Amino acid sequence: MVQNALPTGGRILLTGATGQVGGELLETLKPLGDVIAPTRVAMDLSNTASVREMIRAVRPRWIVNPGAYTAVDKAESEPDLAYAINAEAVKIIGQEAKAINAGVIHYSTDYVFDGSGSTPYLETDATGPVSVYGASKLAGERALAESGAGHIVFRTSWVYGSRGKNFLLTILKLARERETLRVVADQYGAPTWSRDLARVTAEVIEQCEATARTKELSAVLSDVGGIYHAAGAGETTWYGFAAEAVRLRQEREPAVRFAKIEAITTAQYPIPAKRPANSRMNCIRLMERFGWKMMDWQDSLRKVSAEL
Ligand SMILES: NC(=O)c1ccc[n+]([C@@H]2O[C@H](COP(=O)([O-])OP(=O)(O)OC[C@H]3O[C@@H](n4cnc5c(N)ncnc54)[C@H](OP(=O)(O)O)[C@@H]3O)[C@@H](O)[C@H]2O)c1
Repeated sequence: MVQNALPTGGRILLTGATGQVGGELLETLKPLGDVIAPTRVAMDLSNTASVREMIRAVRPRWIVNPGAYTAVDKAESEPDLAYAINAEAVKIIGQEAKAINAGVIHYSTDYVFDGSGSTPYLETDATGPVSVYGASKLAGERALAESGAGHIVFRTSWVYGSRGKNFLLTILKLARERETLRVVADQYGAPTWSRDLARVTAEVIEQCEATARTKELSAVLSDVGGIYHAAGAGETTWYGFAAEAVRLRQEREPAVRFAKIEAITTAQYPIPAKRPANSRMNCIRLMERFGWKMMDWQDSLRKVSAEL
């Protein structure tokens, strides 16, 4: 990691620092430069004026935006709020970044796809969200592209880590409390460690800054910017993820009697928002452009389990 990779006085404005990815970014981005991470009161993503004012006050070199409306099921009944945060705020971030030539790093989701087929999605594949959340995130991607700001979007999937609200922590809690846990086994994808996402973000900023010593940052981002898939390597199902998480926990706590994990179908687990059956992401573009290979989901799960 290059210390102070940003030009002197260069600031990074970070949203969503209380979230899973934002919390990791707060640590990982610190060595690069001055990180400003306003609370949601100081920079409310559902309020366009608040977003504009903060960006104008900070005048950052980079805006890193893991802040989002992430309650996938609740979004079905709160579409206005989901769109305000996931699309409208991103549009304002793009407009303001363009005005000051700042770079934007944004995060999107596998839920922009409809989940048909069984091969990993490429960045160029047709989108077709099947939920309000997915549609609002796709609208955010488009608004950012239309703003003309130099930007990178990391599309990721099934984010988890040792803190925050996520599938891993929920499963491990329930597995202590119950006899059996029924988990969906017909949705395929890969869990992604929040820290891996924070690390690839820092790496990409560093590489862009290294090139920006000889040309404008906006020119660098117009060469390498756009959408990159960034999800854990390998594939599994939610059932496979849960079973492996409990197995690893059992190894560390042999005396505890954990729940038995049972495989069920999506149809057996009705919830408000539809999920794609295929969430596999092909991350080759990230490898080719930035030389970054996302961690295998089983390796990162082992590391996270050891932190708990
Ligand atoms: N989680 C996943 O499985 C997943 C999968 C694919 C893509 N992604 C994408 O990855 C990114 C990071 O996700 P994550 O898992 O880190 O999300 P997260 O843990 O839910 O964190 C979201 C962050 O956004 C903040 N936020 C929400 N509403 C806000 C508002 N009105 N004003 C200001 N801040 C607000 C939250 O603040 P509070 O703590 O105050 O609520 C929190 O800091 C998001 O773009 C998400 O769409 C996530």
